[in-house]
Amino acid sequence: METEKKTQNSQKRILITGCSSGFGMLTAVGAAKLGFETIATMRNPDKSGPLQEALKAANVSVCIEKLDVTSPDSISQLVKKISPIDILINNAGILITGSFLDQTDEEMRRILETNYFGAVNLTKAVVPSMIDRKSGRIINIASLAGLIGHPFNAAYAASKHALIGFTKSIRVELAPLGIDAVSIEPGYHRTEIIGANANQSENFYDRRSPMFEWNRGFLRTMFDEIIPRAGDPKDVADLILKVMTLEKPKPHYVIGKDARFATTLQWLGLGPWLEHQVTRKIRKARRLENQREAEKKARRKQKRGAEATR
Ligand SMILES: NC(=O)c1ccc[n+]([C@@H]2O[C@H](COP(=O)([O-])OP(=O)(O)OC[C@H]3O[C@@H](n4cnc5c(N)ncnc54)[C@H](OP(=O)(O)O)[C@@H]3O)[C@@H](O)[C@H]2O)c1
Repeated sequence: METEKKTQNSQKRILITGCSSGFGMLTAVGAAKLGFETIATMRNPDKSGPLQEALKAANVSVCIEKLDVTSPDSISQLVKKISPIDILINNAGILITGSFLDQTDEEMRRILETNYFGAVNLTKAVVPSMIDRKSGRIINIASLAGLIGHPFNAAYAASKHALIGFTKSIRVELAPLGIDAVSIEPGYHRTEIIGANANQSENFYDRRSPMFEWNRGFLRTMFDEIIPRAGDPKDVADLILKVMTLEKPKPHYVIGKDARFATTLQWLGLGPWLEHQVTRKIRKARRLENQREAEKKARRKQKRGAEATR
């Protein structure tokens, strides 16, 4: 039975973006294990070490290709080389944290270019061959931030809302042509986007900004409240793999305790209560950070005073 499934899967070619780490890397390994012909792409193949190691440990292989989703040339070259694709997984994404007041225009556009236009442009390049063959599936990795607001990540939330709107719309356009479009909306999970790939906007620590203390409070909330509770990224990869193999997937999937909690509250009409709780936590963290800074300053002053009287 399993061999039969693997043989069926081996006839399907899948393309995943952003496979240097996180969900993309785990999905690429999982897809290879299920027998899919897997094209794992990344913008910088020098970062393929962790994927190669994971593949070796699982005793499977994939084809690793370079793809920067923000580059139209990179997209057209790759699609020409590896078409046709049966399943496209738009997973690549970036997060640049900071109040919308402090984010530069360039940063906001970079987020939109990667998380939204990257997925849109790759989908546009891949879909014509799916239409020719009257079959295909597009799986877009959106976010809980595409369903509710994400303070201090407004451009990220906007990009994910846009991606969900895009997915819902093309789903209807493509259904009569035999192509599914599905979005997956994870809450926080422990990947590099909140680890080594985590970025703050270049003006995040600008003390002249009216949002300086609030930025710092949000970051403290991330470290104290959010990251310790973030889910296991393997759960998301397993869900992506399930969506790849289901005969009739649902239009969208919410995953993660935080995401299920937030969407249930929203459904119950308790969105404003949740917003209030988030504000309360950030306000408290801001106060603690200010206190810590004042204590540090006082200690430094005391030290200088002691040195001067010596
Ligand atoms: N982890 C979470 O809590 C969470 C929650 C909701 C949604 N998501 C979404 O899940 C997706 C995967 O993120 P992750 O959590 O697995 O984080 P990750 O480990 O940081 O993976 C993001 C991947 O996207 C790649 N990437 C960034 N810009 C790219 C570009 N221009 N072209 C091609 N690849 C690019 C990164 O490559 P480099 O290594 O070269 O930067 C990396 O491989 C993202 O769309 C993210 O928004 C994550």
